Amino acid sequence: MMTATRVKERSLLGLKGLDQTEIAAIMARAAYWDKQTEKVSSVLASRFVSNMFFENSTRTRFSFEMAEKRLGAQVLNFTAAASSVEKGESIYDTVRTLESMGIDAGVVRLKPTGVLAQLSEKVSIPLINAGDGNNEHPTQALLDMYTMIKTFGEIKGLTVSIIGDIMHSRVARSNLWGLTRMGAKVQFCAPENMKAPELMEHAPYVTIDEALKADVVMMLRVQLERHATGMLQSAEEYRRQFGLTEERASRLSPNTVIMHPAPVNRNVEIDDAVVESAKSLIFPQMSNGVPVRMAVIERAIR
Ligand code: CP
Repeated sequence: MMTATRVKERSLLGLKGLDQTEIAAIMARAAYWDKQTEKVSSVLASRFVSNMFFENSTRTRFSFEMAEKRLGAQVLNFTAAASSVEKGESIYDTVRTLESMGIDAGVVRLKPTGVLAQLSEKVSIPLINAGDGNNEHPTQALLDMYTMIKTFGEIKGLTVSIIGDIMHSRVARSNLWGLTRMGAKVQFCAPENMKAPELMEHAPYVTIDEALKADVVMMLRVQLERHATGMLQSAEEYRRQFGLTEERASRLSPNTVIMHPAPVNRNVEIDDAVVESAKSLIFPQMSNGVPVRMAVIERAIR
């Protein structure tokens, strides 16, 4: 059994606590897995990983499953809707149940903020955060950073504009911590009701026209499901003021790239025609998620 310190070192709860060396090591290992032509390796043969998703997901869940299977691990998929959570079992009891059965690591997505950190204190297997509330989504930010490295060579010196629903975005937070740690300049752009006041000391808010003058324009999904009282403005008004419309995209400099964690609200935060335009890295981001998550899973249990 791993010591508590070792479990903590191998878990990935967020990027706020990760130093430059650790992020660089994950990037390097992701690049290694990205280059492999064999689809399945045996490095994690006979190891068991459980994907425990208490909130919906397409990209993160399948990308982790792909990563685990490519590493040769045995995969147990848990979906809250088809489990005893429906009968009232707690997240803690669910994770403890799978731990008792002998899994080597758990990938966890959940809605409440702070619960994952508490859980990690109570179990003796590494946990990987697949998105917790508005807090962090570290593997999304790692795959975003890996995509930037593949595009620009390095992160240091880049200007990254994160545009949209900052307040409700765990992707914005993880990217803020990771990108600034790696030497990028991060700036935000958001309507008043979607700003996160506690982040103002870490990144300035700029106008949409200023935000377009960046190396990376990262659009965020409007997290309608996380708005307590619904959006103040209509989708059309949001698009007019903050959307990456075809007209705004046409004003980007030739080297600027467009990113979005997806799922995308087409024609709200980004125009349909821009999603798969030449400047868009949205689908490459999804491809890059697999080698990045291979590196993170390997770090957890190898
Ligand atoms: N980007 C992201 O986390 O997508 P899913 O919610 O589909 O996992």
